Amino acid sequence: MLYACLTMLYEFQKIITSIVIVIIVVLGIGKISDIVFKTEKNVVAYKVEVQTKEVSSAETVSLDMASFLSLGDVEHGKKVFKKCAACHSINKGGKNKIGPALWSVMQRKSGELSDYKYSKALLDYEKQWNFEELNGFLLKPATWIKGNKMGFAGLKDDKDRASVILYLNDSSDVQLPLP
Ligand code: HEC
Repeated sequence: MLYACLTMLYEFQKIITSIVIVIIVVLGIGKISDIVFKTEKNVVAYKVEVQTKEVSSAETVSLDMASFLSLGDVEHGKKVFKKCAACHSINKGGKNKIGPALWSVMQRKSGELSDYKYSKALLDYEKQWNFEELNGFLLKPATWIKGNKMGFAGLKDDKDRASVILYLNDSSDVQLPLP
């Protein structure tokens, strides 16, 4: 009788121990996978967010520039350039006048002509002329590059500005592809 009781107790204890072990293992795996999945989810979510942001802001800029440039045309730009011609030549091999020669100014680094005496402001600017930079500069030269010496108020009219930018791009050895 005593023996039977003891064996039963022993068996019972084995069962309890196994159950406890199973519970511990299950809980443990749950915790570990929780930690792993949580961090993975966070990382993935973060990556997605960053990518969407980059794509959308780049797309907005090029979309805006594309629709802005579509307002203009090269022929109209040639007429608008008469306002610039007092100070700038535009033909290939043209000389510097009051302002630097503008043949192939698109994609040229700002202030790059060695035979023209730029202001310190333009020399220090050190950016490449592209659609965005020309648009900002020609809208309001004085505020886009503070301290530059181009004595010109700017072209307020979007069509005029887009057209003259297209004309500058056209008057160049290499055309920058339209956005
Ligand atoms: C009153 C004279 C004058 C007029 C008008 C003028 N500019 Fe200028 N422009 C200058 C001068 C001077 C500079 C050099 C500025 C400096 O060194 O700070 C300059 C610089 C520039 C540059 C920078 C060139 C480079 O090599 O980095 C561009 C581009 C430009 N002008 C475009 C135009 C366009 C386009 C127009 C007409 C819409 C125009 N300018 C009208 C005098 C003028």
